[in-house]
Amino acid sequence: MKDTLTPAAAETLETILLRCVECSTSYPGIEAGWAPRYRCQCGGVLDVEIRLPAGASHLRQLFDQRAATPPTWPLNTDTMLPDHSGVWRYRELILPVPAQFIISRPEGNTNLYPAGIENCGAGRIGHRQIGHYAGLERLFLKHEGENPTGSFKDRGMTVGVTMASLLGAQAVACASTGNTSASLASYAAQAGMRAIVFLPAGNVSAGKLAQSLAYGATTIQVDGDFDAAMRLVERVCDELGIYLLNSLNPYRVEGQKSIGFEILQQLNWQAPDWLVLPAGNLGNTSAIGKAFRQAYQLSLISHMPRFASIQAAGANPFYRSFRQGFAKREQVQAHTVATAIKIGDPVSYTRARRVIEESNGLVEEVTDEEILAAKTIIDRSGLGCEPASASTLAGIRKLVEGGVIKRGELVVGILTGNLLKDSQTGIPQREESVAVAANVEAVRKVLQQ
Ligand code: F0G
Repeated sequence: MKDTLTPAAAETLETILLRCVECSTSYPGIEAGWAPRYRCQCGGVLDVEIRLPAGASHLRQLFDQRAATPPTWPLNTDTMLPDHSGVWRYRELILPVPAQFIISRPEGNTNLYPAGIENCGAGRIGHRQIGHYAGLERLFLKHEGENPTGSFKDRGMTVGVTMASLLGAQAVACASTGNTSASLASYAAQAGMRAIVFLPAGNVSAGKLAQSLAYGATTIQVDGDFDAAMRLVERVCDELGIYLLNSLNPYRVEGQKSIGFEILQQLNWQAPDWLVLPAGNLGNTSAIGKAFRQAYQLSLISHMPRFASIQAAGANPFYRSFRQGFAKREQVQAHTVATAIKIGDPVSYTRARRVIEESNGLVEEVTDEEILAAKTIIDRSGLGCEPASASTLAGIRKLVEGGVIKRGELVVGILTGNLLKDSQTGIPQREESVAVAANVEAVRKVLQQ
């Protein structure tokens, strides 16, 4: 890290507190020597506290105005940022950073697809199939695979790398099941920082691995699972002075809150009844939960949605804890085809538990078969997603069948990653396509079969 901060950077950091989610001890956002802090002395993870604006009635109007105003000509970073990022548009609730420090693609602005039986629109036969499968009249799917590197991770990474830039970091690192690393590699390249990513060897899809290599990250395959890579990167960052950008980094969680704010804006500031999403390391459950909590505290919405975090049955430590009323924090040896959520010891357990408890939410598990069946429905609808994302739809279907989610309730599900992230799992392979001679007769024969 640099040993001096610009006055603007120092001023930003002075307004921030970090609070331990276990014991509530607080720390200043910046400490002597600009050494970053990711954990409390008790070992707990830290949560960012910024001063929320008093009397927030103007915020909704401000956010809506920013979303409605196109960037001015000539189009450049200064005219596009920060308002045209789906993260920095909400900066008063995320991180009050001077615009010159912001590292952004920009990200966010992802579609919220109507996909319920009633709210889908008559011609959208494919999307309506999702509603039939879910058993819901009013369903929306927020497609975070439409972010610049193909997953929701970009929303946290723009804030994390911006913070790294504020601190003058030269190198940034993360452990990852593939999406965080792809995002880190892209944003670090943009900022001119070295990126070092730690991946569980043999457990990252080829597409995600290709992204981190192509963006120029030093890519280290760890002999172990994601949880081992996570423990290793924390030690490496501590000992070698590299800035850590896993969701242990509290600023990334702040960026991911924007998924919640953007959903609210797209729903004209009506909170849904349910918010359903895949759960691995639990950063996203924590982040979106925090967004809705803050929106509620600021009276931007009248109630919090109930959260349903969905885990793969072979990677279900959070589900196991939930079933015991969170009496015990569980760990498992993770196994699932959905490699993005193949995680046995989630870092953001306590933050996510709070979200489930305060929203009267729940944790559900779905089998790999259920994930792949749901993925086929999403893919065939024309939307497409990567395997982990499909646990959202698998979970919704199970909860509707069980009578927990009611057919008429308003449900928003998150699709976390793009179809192209994993071209091997749960989709027809090249051999299943048909080869023909280049003439109409040959095609006619194939079509008649
Ligand atoms: N869906 C996708 C596509 C993911 O990549 C991840 C996490 C999740 C869901 C789970 O989100 O961890 O916030 O509960 N991927 C991380 C990574 C672990 O390294 O890319 P979570």
